Amino acid sequence: ELRNGGSRSTHFMATQQRLPAAIIIGVRKGGTRALLEMLNLHPDVDVAKAEVHYFNVEEHYQQGLDWYRAQMPFTLPGQLTVEKTPGYFASPQVPARVWDMNPAVRLLLIVRDPAERLVSDYTQVLHNRLERHKPYQPLEEILLHQGDINPGYKALHRSLYHQHLARWLQVFPREQIHVVDGDALIRDPFPELRKAERFLGLPARISSSNFYYNATKGFYCLLSAGHDKCLDESKGRPHAPLSVQAFQKLCHYFRKPNKLFFDMVGRSFSWC
Ligand code: A3P
Repeated sequence: ELRNGGSRSTHFMATQQRLPAAIIIGVRKGGTRALLEMLNLHPDVDVAKAEVHYFNVEEHYQQGLDWYRAQMPFTLPGQLTVEKTPGYFASPQVPARVWDMNPAVRLLLIVRDPAERLVSDYTQVLHNRLERHKPYQPLEEILLHQGDINPGYKALHRSLYHQHLARWLQVFPREQIHVVDGDALIRDPFPELRKAERFLGLPARISSSNFYYNATKGFYCLLSAGHDKCLDESKGRPHAPLSVQAFQKLCHYFRKPNKLFFDMVGRSFSWC
């Protein structure tokens, strides 16, 4: 066999599907798509384009790791595979399953103001219902019960970050979960991406030349291989209306949970 070149190196360069070395676990509406697409600008990263829902959907999980691997892109040795499924963060069974796959996997959690996240979450559900001509209830009606916050509302529960993170921290050490500030990623993506590169052990390759600010959209869009690409219309759409009083109740409701989350991650965010 040849030591250099020849068929051996061709074989060595062959691409194959690999299990993810890093997973964006959530949160839903936190900016998970933006984070995935932005990390994908890195030459050493390749991503699963669609959400995989392996660990949180029973039919998928029962098919095992071969099924999971088959959802991944073909990569070169040394490239890092990343997938994102925002549903992982709030699913109780997921942390232990991820650990079983690979206890060294790196986890990325992108968070944003939980009150804004809830409204964004509602807006997405509303949009889907309108598309399917299904009936819907205004946000204010779901959110408030006799003037008080309705704790049974699912989207409210998904914004209780400390409860979900506590379950992940029963399984993974804190250092293995990198928290990305979703609000900062919107304002100025580069510092957040630099930190994510460092966390993933990647050389710094994502730069301002990979983006341009699209004033019409009000967001950064991506430039890669001569193409420009903004995230689709489902990202950054106008939020469903909610009265100022109701929003303030929401902010008040999240004050304690937020404090618990800040203590857990060892930093704070300027949320409402
Ligand atoms: P809104 O639609 O509430 O504005 P996810 O991908 O997890 O569903 O998150 C969607 C959110 O990503 C959007 O929430 C939007 O604010 C945010 N986002 C962050 N960076 C963005 C970008 N460059 N382009 C569009 N949306 C972005």
